[in-house]
Amino acid sequence: MTWIDSSTALYGIIGKNISYSLSPVIHNYAFRKVNHNAVYLRFDVSEHLFETAFMGLANVSKGLNVTIPYKERALGLLEGLDSIAEKIGAVNTVKSRVGFNTDYLAIKSLVVKKIGSLSNDICLIYGAGGAARAASFSLGWLGCKVFLINRTKGRAKKLAEDLSRNGIDAEVLDGCRDRTDVVVNATPNIRIISNKCLPSSLIIDFTYGSRENDLLKRAKQEGVLFIDGISILIRQAIEAQKIWIGIELEEEEIMHYLVKKGYINAW
Ligand SMILES: NC(=O)c1ccc[n+]([C@@H]2O[C@H](COP(=O)([O-])OP(=O)(O)OC[C@H]3O[C@@H](n4cnc5c(N)ncnc54)[C@H](OP(=O)(O)O)[C@@H]3O)[C@@H](O)[C@H]2O)c1
Repeated sequence: MTWIDSSTALYGIIGKNISYSLSPVIHNYAFRKVNHNAVYLRFDVSEHLFETAFMGLANVSKGLNVTIPYKERALGLLEGLDSIAEKIGAVNTVKSRVGFNTDYLAIKSLVVKKIGSLSNDICLIYGAGGAARAASFSLGWLGCKVFLINRTKGRAKKLAEDLSRNGIDAEVLDGCRDRTDVVVNATPNIRIISNKCLPSSLIIDFTYGSRENDLLKRAKQEGVLFIDGISILIRQAIEAQKIWIGIELEEEEIMHYLVKKGYINAW
């Protein structure tokens, strides 16, 4: 057991209304496991305080995660950007005032593991914020044609332009298409995806309030493969630990820990 003392390093997550976040559980488990003298805290910050809080934390912490709704705002406050994060236009991990996007790495790795390569697949993404940016760049560079639906259409148009500039075929839609191979929910609201929009191959849901949510239940009933928000959370956390302290944790081990401690249900 590591006790907090004068050499304990600070890590944390900054977001808004994020009391549900399991990132502190995962990262404090990781630090204990490898005897790294560090603590990971949650910083729930209202929008008018974000810049001040982020700059302070980026300066004094050894590593930060950035989450809803700040992944795009953080981009302009950093001294450097990993080249992928710069193209994506969103940051979820910071080390030494340099920004990275481990959501992108998580989606890429989980999709390849689940269905292998994509080729001319139709991917429909709900949302146009930080998570949607990470998912659309991952799926686009894996070979998908990307369609975007978002409550604020202008934000989806801007994302489509950024995707096109980076060689990804992208279009904004008002409603879902007849045929879709992959559907991604990158919003906090799974109810926006109606039954007629279910895909033929894979559903990716970023939310992780409940593992047995209606969207994933529908996927199971229809025999459609799915990647749930907990799997994304764990994978992006593993990628962040690689960046911060160079360790590589196992997805299964973290999943087992979260189930054992009662944070999530087993499937
Ligand atoms: N599992 C994970 O590891 C993981 C990683 C990243 C994100 N997430 C989750 O993914 C979700 C999106 O996160 P983010 O970082 O992309 O946030 P963000 O940058 O703030 O973007 C939020 C997106 O959701 C849309 N949205 C918000 N409320 C909505 C509603 N009631 N109905 C329809 N659309 C709505 C927004 O539309 P407008 O543009 O119209 O505002 C925007 O497109 C959050 O629930 C977050 O917790 C999970």
